[in-house]
Amino acid sequence: MTTATSPHAFWLAGRKATGDTTLDVTSPWDGRHVGTVSIPTSAQVEEAVAAAAAVAGEFSATPAHVRAAALDHLTRRLVERTDEIAELISAENGKPMKWARGEVGRCISVFRWAAEEARRFNGGEAQRLDSDAGGTGRLAFTRRFPYGPVLGIAPFNFPLNLCAHKVAPALAVGTPIILKPAPATPLSGLILGELLAETDLPAGSWSVLPVPNEQMPGLVQDERLPIISFTGSAPVGWSILDSAPRKRVTLELGGNGAAVVLADYASEADLDWAAQRIATFSNYQAGQSCISVQRVVADASVYDRLVPKVVAAVEALTTGDPSDEATDVGPLVSEDAARRVESWIGEAVSRGAKVLTGGKRDGASVEPTVLENVPADTQIGCEEVFGPVMSFVKVNGEQEAFETVNDSRYGLQAGLFTHDVQAAFRAHRALEVGGVVVGDVPSYRADQMPYGGVKDSGVGREGVRFAMEDYTYERVMVLTGLDL
Ligand code: SIN
Repeated sequence: MTTATSPHAFWLAGRKATGDTTLDVTSPWDGRHVGTVSIPTSAQVEEAVAAAAAVAGEFSATPAHVRAAALDHLTRRLVERTDEIAELISAENGKPMKWARGEVGRCISVFRWAAEEARRFNGGEAQRLDSDAGGTGRLAFTRRFPYGPVLGIAPFNFPLNLCAHKVAPALAVGTPIILKPAPATPLSGLILGELLAETDLPAGSWSVLPVPNEQMPGLVQDERLPIISFTGSAPVGWSILDSAPRKRVTLELGGNGAAVVLADYASEADLDWAAQRIATFSNYQAGQSCISVQRVVADASVYDRLVPKVVAAVEALTTGDPSDEATDVGPLVSEDAARRVESWIGEAVSRGAKVLTGGKRDGASVEPTVLENVPADTQIGCEEVFGPVMSFVKVNGEQEAFETVNDSRYGLQAGLFTHDVQAAFRAHRALEVGGVVVGDVPSYRADQMPYGGVKDSGVGREGVRFAMEDYTYERVMVLTGLDL
């Protein structure tokens, strides 16, 4: 941390504020200074939490049209400011412009969905109770109410859209949120604050605070924030849950996404499509997505034809400067992250893995890499790589393919290339994951879909309506003496 003049303010209970210290944000591509961000003091963090707790009751009673109008406003403003915000994402995260623009597009969709869901949510449901004699003249009426203010903790890999996935559902159900963006990429989250400040949402209903990680345990423990929505690494996520077992905690953690290519997916056109999708989505955002393709589980009957197509498609990707519109693959978030990936590749190779293409590091960039014969007990074989690296696994038949996918402590999403609808249903039943994408890679995510994992990939679901459900609980009101 440094002391600097004119840092970016953070957002404390809806207004701009600055603290005593600052954090410099630099581009992972060329190390240039992207911005300086003010860090809230402990007293300012306390003020934001107290304001959230104080406004919770009032905010929950806000008419749906008020919340929906605010969410609509964000949708409009994100459309208007798409290019500028995409440039900011690209600068602070190193994400190529084409993917940064796509991220803003997805964020627009999140707020649009949240506005629509806010209008629909909580109409209430009636249940007659006179099905038993004791319930004669009684009716149950249920509505959902928020547990209380949300602590949203966002990662660096989608610095705008994964903030949106915390904020938009909270505002849609009328519960306050304290958003903590990732230390490497706070500027995109602060932009959301800028747009929220243009709305009429009550003071205290939202704050964007770039709190340093080491000061988070206090917030995680704070009983005035009964909901935690965290996206990030598995060790940090599970330690949050363990340290706050009585809270409502949603964890979106890692994965080691598998793309399965079954024997029936065998025409040249099929394999061309699969190869192109696998190559693209193993390397988008330099592989820094929890659902990037990390394992390619291919039936032996198509393996030898698929591998060269994937290698060719990977080698055709344009790597380099993320601000260049032509770039497909930019740097990782930091040189440290790239060094870790490099060392994992080194470990796999020393244990017998073969590099089919790539494998080298330059600064924060790692070449798009394709491996085969990776031992299952290497880091690459069993952990989340979070880098532009895929490994081929040859299998015999559908059952072995599904067992291979499940032979992982993670279970986020899987992709299944097949034309066989019965195989799709068998996969849907057999695969221990939060989502199966048929005809495409595991990396497909529409923002309204339920999204989340099983096993070490986490608990709870995002996807606007599903997060709204996670943030709220059913409260029943029983009416008696009714002439039903
Ligand atoms: C993630 O990395 O978990 C998010 C993936 C996405 O939103 O596409």
